[in-house]
Amino acid sequence: MKSPPKGRPTYCVIDLAALRWNFEQVKKRVGPGVKILSVVKANAYGHGVREVAKTLSRAGSDGFGVATVEEGIELRESGIRAPILVLTAIYAEQLGQLLQHKLTPAISDLDTLRGLERLLRKRSRSLQFHLKIDTGMGRLGLLHSEIESWLPELSKLKALKLEGLFSQLSHAEDEKAGYTRTQIEAFRRVLERLQKAGFNPPSIHLANSAALIAEGSSHFTMVRPGLMLYGLYPALEMARQVELKPVLSWKTRVMQVKRLPAGSSIGYGRTFVTQRDSSIATLPAGYADGYHRLLSNRGAALVRGKRAPIVGRISMDLTMVDVTDIAGVSQGDEVILLGRQGDAAISADELAGWAETISYEIVTSISARVPRIQKN
Ligand SMILES: Cc1ncc(COP(=O)(O)O)c(C=O)c1O
Repeated sequence: MKSPPKGRPTYCVIDLAALRWNFEQVKKRVGPGVKILSVVKANAYGHGVREVAKTLSRAGSDGFGVATVEEGIELRESGIRAPILVLTAIYAEQLGQLLQHKLTPAISDLDTLRGLERLLRKRSRSLQFHLKIDTGMGRLGLLHSEIESWLPELSKLKALKLEGLFSQLSHAEDEKAGYTRTQIEAFRRVLERLQKAGFNPPSIHLANSAALIAEGSSHFTMVRPGLMLYGLYPALEMARQVELKPVLSWKTRVMQVKRLPAGSSIGYGRTFVTQRDSSIATLPAGYADGYHRLLSNRGAALVRGKRAPIVGRISMDLTMVDVTDIAGVSQGDEVILLGRQGDAAISADELAGWAETISYEIVTSISARVPRIQKN
């Protein structure tokens, strides 16, 4: 492991062995004939995209999914040569960057399709793209039900080459709901209609982590896992189907411990007042680090293998925890904000519960000022 940062001791440890393990579980689940496009957008879900992508590349990832052209360029600059699909934000003025960095755009609407085709012809260039179909998310993509109106547009393309077809599932984490099946069927109908019209894009993909785990019929020729690569479950019941290992843990150290008499108020707004003589530890992590303010007076951190409740409001750079019931806590003690310490653990899902959100938001919100330290 690289050494922790000098000075402010708030950092994340990124366990690359766990990442490799999770990637292997994906491979096992989909079998040898299905490609894996690892979703590493948003700084690899907050895990640090450069090291994550390098590790997944060595483990055999067939490609990478990012949200923006800028994220794609960062991957290229870190030495990734595999195909990179820009999943969401494509703007015609970025065509030069797409071409220069060999990034594949996902195209979701006819105006962008026509605009890129026109610009490419002007430059006498061609470009592979993936077509995004809306099968029931109501977000980006050409509507599956309107295929007869947009299909003729594909036949006019010369410069743009249809390399992939994909859609996004909206409710795959709920295994009981039939909606995923409905989306899969709509997607299959689009695929068959395209094939009948003479199109045979090699990359056909629909499955996110949840569908990859729970719905084999969604695998097609490629899958797009994000969350599960990082060792997190789309739904907790899925832990029965696949064993994943959390990749990220988040640590800090006690900055100061003080004894305060009963009746002392803690933090902004005086939302916590001690009911007894208390030991209060101040931690160098706050909402500007991505430690969510909704954890105030709700969450806990681990100190000396025990849970220390968060007291008072989390402030921008600091958080206070009550360590009255934990013997011997002193300045410099290790504190776990997310992860394991001895037999105790705080998961991203637990933090998400306290912060009224999902694990995705917990890990992607850990801010840039928190160093990520890789462990092999
Ligand atoms: C288009 C697309 N595909 C795949 C994924 C990966 O989803 P998950 O992290 O649930 O596996 C995402 C994530 O939001 C996405 O936007």
